[in-house]
Amino acid sequence: MSDLKEHLSERCQYVDAALNRLIPNAETRPQTLHRAMRHSMFAGGKRLRPILCLAAAEACGGRAEDAIYNACAVECLHTYSLIHDDLPCMDDDDMRRGVPTCHKVFGEAMALLAGDALQALAFELVTKTPMAARHPTEVMVLELARTAGSLHLVGGQVADLEGEGKKLGLEDLRFIHEGKTAALLTTSVKLGGMSANASAEQMKGLHEFGMATGLAFQIIDDILDVTQTSEKLGKSAGKDVAAEKSTYPALMGLEASRAEAHRLTEVSHRALDVFGENGARLRQLADYLLSRDY
Ligand code: IPE
Ligand code: IPE
Ligand code: MG
Ligand code: MG
Ligand code: MG
Repeated sequence: MSDLKEHLSERCQYVDAALNRLIPNAETRPQTLHRAMRHSMFAGGKRLRPILCLAAAEACGGRAEDAIYNACAVECLHTYSLIHDDLPCMDDDDMRRGVPTCHKVFGEAMALLAGDALQALAFELVTKTPMAARHPTEVMVLELARTAGSLHLVGGQVADLEGEGKKLGLEDLRFIHEGKTAALLTTSVKLGGMSANASAEQMKGLHEFGMATGLAFQIIDDILDVTQTSEKLGKSAGKDVAAEKSTYPALMGLEASRAEAHRLTEVSHRALDVFGENGARLRQLADYLLSRDY
């Protein structure tokens, strides 16, 4: 196994074991709710945000075990956003992470509530991170709250829905992608850095890295929606064209979209200069996000 594959697989197992401990088990009342949360959480996500969070902590000289609560927090927030994103009133998707979506199995009300509960759990988990001198707990909570709210993730989702059927310009499209996706990727690496007591210079590097890789990540997601099969993606492909979503391929075509994702990955590499050799894993992960095919 290549070094990267081994790293991804080892980290997936580490994150999954922690999530399994931290999310109430399926026998806890109300059982239906906890089963719904676990259905979406353990369906086989790539765990990229927690993996980035742990890598960022290590790039700052910290330890994975101190970053694991923040890593699980960003995965809980991400999974909540996917459950709600798939609801009939949003993207109306039947498949996610290779299995039927939460509302298909448990009904809309339960899916809505499973998402709500995962979002609340995300904030609880951030408070469990051992506090580092430069980044008090309330600053970490604020970091996640801002990203989750109306100026970023939820705001991006709103702009995404309102952009359906319209031909948006590049600036509006960037607003959507930065909000719905790049903000949480950025917060993932920043919460990793905070758990490792990162310096202001390191935090700046992580912020720029997250914004560039995060935007590239959503551009690749848009490209894969056009070029891959549902089986490969584990979610319905071709949905963006069907819903007349504003995406990079729709606006500038596949080739220019790929070129833009490459350019952003180069920007993300430069943002890591401050880490020297310690940024090697983050650099490798950014390349992987660019080359992924699902
Ligand atoms: C999908 O994210 C939603 C986007 C923000 C593009 P991922 O591709 O990371 O989904 P999982 O977590 O692996 O299922
Ligand atoms: C999802 O964007 C972003 C969030 C869930 C916040 P998409 O709607 O493109 O994600 P997929 O393609 O359904 O995974
Ligand atoms: Mg969507
Ligand atoms: Mg969607
Ligand atoms: Mg998509």
